[in-house]
Amino acid sequence: MSDNKAAGSARASLIDRIKESVRSEGTDQETRIRSRRRLIGLLTGGFLTANFLMFLRFFFPRTIFEPRTQFPIGLPADFPIGVDTRFQKSKRIWVVRTTDRLFVIYASCTHLGCTPDWKLSEAKFKCPCHGSGYDPEGRNYEGPAPRPLDRAYVEVDPQGRIIVDTSVLFREEKGQPTQFDNQGSYIQV
Ligand code: FES
Repeated sequence: MSDNKAAGSARASLIDRIKESVRSEGTDQETRIRSRRRLIGLLTGGFLTANFLMFLRFFFPRTIFEPRTQFPIGLPADFPIGVDTRFQKSKRIWVVRTTDRLFVIYASCTHLGCTPDWKLSEAKFKCPCHGSGYDPEGRNYEGPAPRPLDRAYVEVDPQGRIIVDTSVLFREEKGQPTQFDNQGSYIQV
């Protein structure tokens, strides 16, 4: 009798354990499904957000901030005869004044576009890249430079200030009429 009781209680406990194990397996599976859903939700959300941001980006054009090409540099009286280098770094120009003209040289070597240096002791512009040399008015006389340094547009505004525009350049190409006498390539002083 007591053997039967013991066997019955062992069976009941085994059934309980099996039920418990099935229950816990079910819970594990639910957890896995829930975390899988969360992952899918996150991925979908990220994908949609990225697409939405790209869509918004379409309405905002890219802006490239380039240095201004038109700017005042002062009064003609601020520039004595010779080469003035004060705007070389900030505007990439030199201001040259002769006895009767003031003009602005664009500081870009006509060989491959390096910025030459003004050598006061040698009275010349010297390009550090391949050795082109230019006289104080920017005319090439040594090295591979094919033509004189270009000159930028200049004018005097109603306040008497010199306005430079480096988007308009004057050239002196070999075999072509010079542009260095064109209107806007110099100021009479
Ligand atoms: S870039 Fe000036 S000499 Fe070549």
